[in-house]
Amino acid sequence: MKVLFVDGTIIGSKTGAVLDTVEGYIKEKGNEFEIERMNLADYDHQFVDGRPSEQYNADMKEMVRKFEEADAYIIATPIFQGSIPGVLKNAFDMLHPYAMRYKPVSIVANGGTYQHHLVVENQLKPILDYFRCLVTPNFVYTHESHFDQDNRIIDEDVHNRLRELARVFTKYTEMSKDLSTDILDAQ
Ligand SMILES: Cc1cc2nc3c(=O)[nH]c(=O)nc-3n(C[C@H](O)[C@H](O)[C@H](O)COP(=O)(O)O)c2cc1C
Repeated sequence: MKVLFVDGTIIGSKTGAVLDTVEGYIKEKGNEFEIERMNLADYDHQFVDGRPSEQYNADMKEMVRKFEEADAYIIATPIFQGSIPGVLKNAFDMLHPYAMRYKPVSIVANGGTYQHHLVVENQLKPILDYFRCLVTPNFVYTHESHFDQDNRIIDEDVHNRLRELARVFTKYTEMSKDLSTDILDAQ
């Protein structure tokens, strides 16, 4: 079971710090997960502009390949202007509609205001619903006040929610084992 951990921003560091923490909790759930990290900051991005897919650069092609090859995802995003970063939306725009179909996804998000946890509900989840992902019902939203100066999460409640996220995500991966290949057979 390949799990792709996506750090969906090219600015900031707290989003990656939350991803590191959830990675630790998911590893505690067993060693059947083959974990791969995708930091969007490491890629040379091009706007999705309708050109044929072979005309995109090697980084864009690699990004698509990693999304397609993964069996499940943890997607981490900061909140920018009441939404997700453009670079993350651009990455989604590159994907075939079947790329993440029936694959589990858990979301972690970080914002500068408490209220913007609803961005996950109103903006990110609808995109993942379009892809027909198995989005876990729980996500974790963090805020500046949950971190120390070295970006370590110091809020015990956040740790508990991340542990619970890892638990439910693991259950979803079990449920999805046959589902994502069934759809390909049915096409
Ligand atoms: C361009 C930009 C727009 C932002 N817009 C919002 C916003 O609308 N709501 C919010 O809660 N935080 C907003 N923030 C704060 C980021 O969510 C925060 O910086 C991010 O989660 C990462 O934290 P870090 O930069 O300390 O690593 C914004 C930050 C930037 C750079």
